[in-house]
Amino acid sequence: MTDKTTRRGLLKAGFATGAGFGLAGAARAAGDPAITEVQPWAPMLGEGVDARPYGLPSKFEAEVVRRNVPWLTADPVSSVNFTPLHELDGIITPNGLCFERHHGGIAEVDPGDYRLMINGLVDTPMVFTLEDLKRFPRENRVHFLECAANTGMEWRGAQLNGCQFTHGMIHNVMYTGVPLRLILEEAGIKTSARWILAEGADASAMTRSIPMEKALDDCLVAFKMNGEALRPEQGYPVRLVVPGWEGNMWVKWLRRIEVGDQPWHHREETSKYTDLLADGKARRFTWEMDAKSVITNPSPQAPITHGPGRTVITGVAWSGRGTIPRVDVTLDGGINWHQARMSGPSMQKSMHRFYYEFDWDGRPLLLQSRAHDSTGYVQPTKDQLRALRGENSIYHNNGIQTWAVNEQGVAENVEVS
Ligand code: MTE
Ligand code: CO
Repeated sequence: MTDKTTRRGLLKAGFATGAGFGLAGAARAAGDPAITEVQPWAPMLGEGVDARPYGLPSKFEAEVVRRNVPWLTADPVSSVNFTPLHELDGIITPNGLCFERHHGGIAEVDPGDYRLMINGLVDTPMVFTLEDLKRFPRENRVHFLECAANTGMEWRGAQLNGCQFTHGMIHNVMYTGVPLRLILEEAGIKTSARWILAEGADASAMTRSIPMEKALDDCLVAFKMNGEALRPEQGYPVRLVVPGWEGNMWVKWLRRIEVGDQPWHHREETSKYTDLLADGKARRFTWEMDAKSVITNPSPQAPITHGPGRTVITGVAWSGRGTIPRVDVTLDGGINWHQARMSGPSMQKSMHRFYYEFDWDGRPLLLQSRAHDSTGYVQPTKDQLRALRGENSIYHNNGIQTWAVNEQGVAENVEVS
């Protein structure tokens, strides 16, 4: 633990900037119209209950939205938008802000017509309605979903100016669903069964092969996110949850599970979601998401606006292999590292929140964060990644991200490797 993260260190930091805080507070209090004037919301009664039957954020939060990068894709039906990580805190992504990645647009599935078929190497091929699924024992678990292409644009150098765009192909949600194992057991798996194929009901009919070991381990057939029905964008009424593994395998609008004895080698596991290495060979079946972290504040969309003095750095970290017991933060591009303070629940294959409070002297900063996961794996630099995998990759970039902050507090995406 560094000095600043101990109780005494924090108290000391508080005293160092305390005088500044006191003065600003006193100046504001004397004649501050926000205190002395009657405010527009006070003289009349407000809207009553039921004015907003489904509650939405305050109108003052209108900037907190998913955003896309139009030049990245040719058409929004096969495209992606990004979670505004710099606007969020804690670890749960609100449903309306979960990034979207569709290969054939959003399927509007009527829950009454929803069917899940199990066929292939099973004793009894079966078809379940949504009501049938809800009669199985269910589980609640919080997991991150990260697209394998998250941070893909940054492989060869700094590109997109904002953590929403560099790291926003991730969300972290509490799912309610039935363990896939229970559904497979209901149909009865033949002894030769080794793989499943998950298939979506959307126009792209997305399919992925998943090894049986994973299917029987921790996959969920989920119908709720953060307590309410899945959003259409996230696969309403049912999606597959494949904890810790690349987002592409989390098939939305799940309509069929075929059981087989080998993988299917479909498009999403051959021409896509494989990594061409320097020697011309490709890595494939790179399912697990390696440990990664990013500082969300300050960042290019969230500059420091308060000037020198007490400053809070925060960010998120995650690992497809377990939990994140530790994150380090550097202010000088990796010369000195400080252990950040973890806050909030630490769950398997879920996002973790970290903070680092310090007294900013107003000089330029090179901010980075470095995650350590529960297996002992440490997040690599981008140079270390490129040394292993060459320059051709897009997927699975979990390299350390750098934000350069200038004297005005403005942050920019740079690379220090
Ligand atoms: N499932 C179907 N049926 N169709 C899709 O286009 N996109 C996949 C996966 N499942 C997709 C799908 C990809 S590439 C990702 S990263 C995640 O869903 C995105 O999930 P989200 O839209 O909930 O963020
Ligand atoms: Co994806």
